[in-house]
Amino acid sequence: MMMRRLFTGLIVVFVIAMGCGAVQAEDTVCITCHSAMEGKYGEPVKLWKGSIHEENGIACNACHGGDPKDAPNAMKKERGFLGAPKYNEVPSFCGRCHVGVLKDYLASGHGRALAAGGPNCVICHGSHQIVKASLELINEKSCSRCHSYERAKLIKAAMQETEGNIVAIDGRISGYKQTGTDVEKMEKELFATRNRFHSLFHNVDVKKVTDESAGIKADLKKIENSLTTLDEQKGRRKLAGAIAVALALVAGLLVHLLRKTYE
Ligand code: HEC
Ligand code: HEC
Ligand code: HEC
Ligand code: HEC
Ligand code: HEC
Repeated sequence: MMMRRLFTGLIVVFVIAMGCGAVQAEDTVCITCHSAMEGKYGEPVKLWKGSIHEENGIACNACHGGDPKDAPNAMKKERGFLGAPKYNEVPSFCGRCHVGVLKDYLASGHGRALAAGGPNCVICHGSHQIVKASLELINEKSCSRCHSYERAKLIKAAMQETEGNIVAIDGRISGYKQTGTDVEKMEKELFATRNRFHSLFHNVDVKKVTDESAGIKADLKKIENSLTTLDEQKGRRKLAGAIAVALALVAGLLVHLLRKTYE
């Protein structure tokens, strides 16, 4: 009885704690006021809902600054409000959190051409409806707005094969994980390699992608080899199991025959 009450109490505390977390993200004065507005001032709330930033608790004020708890002063400069960034300011605006991407971007053909009409982050990702990044972002419609699709196509082709390898290896590792095999080391290696791979794009440098892809593929090959070793061990265990069963059957038969002979 005592235990059950304690347990129920714990669940209540847990639910309240969860509830508070949820209220905090949704209950900023930014969202309350802006979701009641029309047009370009209300639209960001709808677009942001369901974005990867919402999923990770990055609300309006995380990007735009300001005071999310004090409606009359929410958008005051003194409360850290930054407003909406101008076209050229967007990369450093996003780059406060995406430091590595910003560095690669600024050094790239796109970053160097920013003042002359090169694409900023939101040209490719959007500003409020941002979702998990993938190679789908490289497509003819998006990439031929300013130049031909040729170089974009080369980068995509160079990245696609490696992307396919990563997905396949991930699937094999998950399979072993489900059967309780220790695959932690492989998981870590894949995670690091995948990060290295995903940071390749913003350089928009076909040669760099091709050169680095060779190293990345070699690292993936090592993980694949470890998986193949596991496959073989599993195969051998199965064979050993089958032989053991066969031997047991033969032994049983012999015992049976011997018994018959002496009866
Ligand atoms: C009481 C209502 C209200 C609250 C609270 C509020 N806003 Fe606003 N916001 C507005 C209105 C009205 C405008 C358009 C006119 C203006 O810029 O003042 C606006 C404009 C903006 C803009 C566009 C500015 C530009 O330069 O175009 C951004 C970005 C913004 N708000 C973000 C926020 C954030 C972040 C918060 C919370 C920290 C917030 N707002 C809280 C009413 C509100
Ligand atoms: C990931 C960062 C990020 C988050 C989170 C974010 N914004 Fe923005 N917002 C931007 C950027 C970048 C721009 C400027 C570029 C653009 O207009 O697309 C912008 C522009 C705006 C504008 C000006 C739109 C216009 O057309 O003038 C408003 C208003 C605004 N945001 C409100 C909000 C509100 C409200 C939220 C929360 C629901 C929010 N933003 C969340 C990055 C963000
Ligand atoms: C020309 C289009 C383009 C521009 C400009 C661009 N991105 Fe990306 N971004 C992509 C593509 C394509 C991917 C996916 C690459 C992949 O799947 O390996 C990506 C991936 C990402 C990722 C996830 C991968 C990682 O390395 O964490 C983040 C975060 C990101 N971009 C942020 C930004 C920011 C911030 C900026 C501006 C400084 C920016 N992007 C500018 C196209 C672009
Ligand atoms: C206040 C910090 C912050 C700001 C500012 C910010 N982001 Fe993010 N962003 C995050 C976090 C946290 C995540 C989720 C974790 C992750 O995937 O890195 C994320 C995820 C992303 C992803 C998906 C990454 C993936 O793994 O596929 C993209 C793309 C992205 N952000 C682009 C942008 C762009 C473009 C801007 C500017 C308009 C921006 N972010 C501004 C914190 C921020
Ligand atoms: C808003 C305009 C714009 C968009 C959209 C755009 N680019 Fe670019 N891109 C440029 C400019 C400007 C340059 C630099 C001048 C040049 O090399 O043509 C450039 C250069 C490049 C280069 C050569 C870089 C180098 O260092 O040689 C590649 C590759 C490239 N872009 C790929 C892409 C891909 C992939 C996309 C779509 C995800 C894309 N671009 C979308 C404007 C754009």
